[in-house]
Amino acid sequence: MPKPTFYLTTPIYYPSGNMHIGHTYTTVAADTMIRFKKQTGYDTYFLTGTDEHGQKIERKAAEAGVTPQQFVDKIVAETKELWKLMNIEYDDFIRTTEDRHMKIVQKIFKQFYDQGDIYKSEYEGLYCTPCESFWTPTQVKDGKCPDCGRPVEPMKEESYFFRMSKYQDWMIQYIEEHPDFIQPPSRANEMLNNFLKPGLQDLCVSRTSFKWGVPVDFDPDHVVYVWIDALSNYITALGYGTDHDELFRKYWPADIHLVGKEIVRFHTIYWPIMLHALGLPLPKQVFGHGWLLFGDDKMSKSKGNIVYPGPIVKRYGVDALRYYLMREMPFGADGNYTNEAMLTRMNADLVNDLGNLVSRTVAMIEKYFDGVVPAPNAYEEPDQALIQAFEALPGIVEEQMNKLQFSIALSEIWKLIGACNKYIDITQPWVLGKSEEGTPRLQTVMYVLAECIRAIAVYIQPTMPSTPERIYAQLGVSDDALKTWESVQKFGQLVPGTVVKKGEALFPRVDIEKELKAMSGESDKAEKQAAKAEKKQEKKKEEKKEAAPGIATFDDFMKIKLIAAKVIACERVEKSDKLLKETLDIGGGQTKTVCSGIAKYYAPEDMVGKTVVLVNNFAPRKMAGQVSEGMLLCAEDPDGSVRLLTVDGSVAPGSEIG
Ligand code: MSP
Repeated sequence: MPKPTFYLTTPIYYPSGNMHIGHTYTTVAADTMIRFKKQTGYDTYFLTGTDEHGQKIERKAAEAGVTPQQFVDKIVAETKELWKLMNIEYDDFIRTTEDRHMKIVQKIFKQFYDQGDIYKSEYEGLYCTPCESFWTPTQVKDGKCPDCGRPVEPMKEESYFFRMSKYQDWMIQYIEEHPDFIQPPSRANEMLNNFLKPGLQDLCVSRTSFKWGVPVDFDPDHVVYVWIDALSNYITALGYGTDHDELFRKYWPADIHLVGKEIVRFHTIYWPIMLHALGLPLPKQVFGHGWLLFGDDKMSKSKGNIVYPGPIVKRYGVDALRYYLMREMPFGADGNYTNEAMLTRMNADLVNDLGNLVSRTVAMIEKYFDGVVPAPNAYEEPDQALIQAFEALPGIVEEQMNKLQFSIALSEIWKLIGACNKYIDITQPWVLGKSEEGTPRLQTVMYVLAECIRAIAVYIQPTMPSTPERIYAQLGVSDDALKTWESVQKFGQLVPGTVVKKGEALFPRVDIEKELKAMSGESDKAEKQAAKAEKKQEKKKEEKKEAAPGIATFDDFMKIKLIAAKVIACERVEKSDKLLKETLDIGGGQTKTVCSGIAKYYAPEDMVGKTVVLVNNFAPRKMAGQVSEGMLLCAEDPDGSVRLLTVDGSVAPGSEIG
């Protein structure tokens, strides 16, 4: 029997800045889910990627003085590095600037147009001319652009629109008839009551005021605007619309689109309507998770409260962060990120509960049985209670994981860990180990503990992929069959005789106060670096602003090479009453010939011997039949007379001026 398929996606991220812990949260959740599905026997496909078009990227690239493609390439490379660091194992990373995506987006757009789903009209909004941006009345503050603070004005732009309104009733009915489609259910009510029932607006799907987008091939002034481009990634990545659509045929419709709550609307209204218009089945579920907040605010660059995962992983390891993200808040609700909460959980759940259980058990097996896992004897009451909990756990975990309730699933797994620690307190192995009579009982206790730890390692694998192998190494488990989901269904798979080996503590205990200080030092450092980078950007921006018509930037000025040159010969140019021809010593044994329009103001013999200012990097040009290789700087008095700029005192010919 072929395995059932499971296709899961994250949103594709805007590569406008480095991915922070909020983006990491979505991606870790998706990776955890995929690993769980893989573990439980599914043929999985995990797609993530980047949403690279749009005016914002175009503008940011211009500010950074690079092309939009160069700008996104750099961030995409950093993003892929971060996902590697976070142990994210995606099957494909789609970029909306890739040919395989753009071609199909053009095809889809054309199909919508041909079908009459897209029509041409005018987009009306409040426009900020310097920023070249449209804003809605709610975004505008006191008639000013929210980005630059300058006044906005009402404007129209030719645009294509998608006739969403046509599908409104169908969409309402679909949501009402498919209660699992939007999760959690509260988000479905929000969509119905706030967007669909009051009347669905047609959606602007093309723009002419910027160029960084997928060109509309039948109307080249337009680029596809945002959502048709972005949402299509979920099918273009699978080869939809090409001759190689095996993946599409195998994995579509998606099982889950995982998205943050602010983009639920696009995924549960616009995307299904587009798919319906294409004659394609809808994703089985869209899950809108909450935001990771910092204090009471969503993390964002403009608020300056961004937490990046890199330094946390470096200090405490990737699994500690992944565990915290999945354990701390119920998936769906908002939650807070604080370093303190993260360290408190790490000490309590990972160091005390899990780490201690493993190290105590391995140490006791070494002490009492020379490191060999003993065979159990008859199970008594506390053993049976634990075995019962062991065998009930797969069903509980599976149910919670399938609802994406990572936090509840983990708390159930930690209940087994807690029960094991309690079991040690009740059975008191150190007392049993004191006398020979205690040995048979001690054998059972040690076996029960070792077997439970093996199962715990299996359970934590999706969330903490690099910890299980460290536990198996200490337990001496090398048989892959003992690391599977099937192997935890029934108690008693661990083979007596397995040799344990004490290793390093799984997680180091941290001094929270000291760590918080160190981390705030690091974030100060990071803040300083960010402030420095921002200043640099601002400076570049300022320079760009100065580059308005008629204003030169410092860089513009530096392009002009000025040198001091000595006039060694001078004569009138025949055929011209304005020009003198000067032969100049420009240093290094070289000369240059230059024509200047100063014949009315200087006699040739007055020129010889002067040290003048020469523009030395002009391309040669012809003047009255003579080739002039530069230009002498002069001042023109308002009365029309012209005087040469000369150097005060003596400098060597060729000296740079600037
Ligand atoms: N490009 C669009 C998505 C297009 S999908 C076809 C986008 N990109 S984004 O980079 O701004 O956000 C991507 C995802 O990261 C969203 O699901 C968003 O909710 C999530 N998060 C960004 N900041 C977050 C938090 N602070 N907390 C939780 N999730 C956060 O939207």
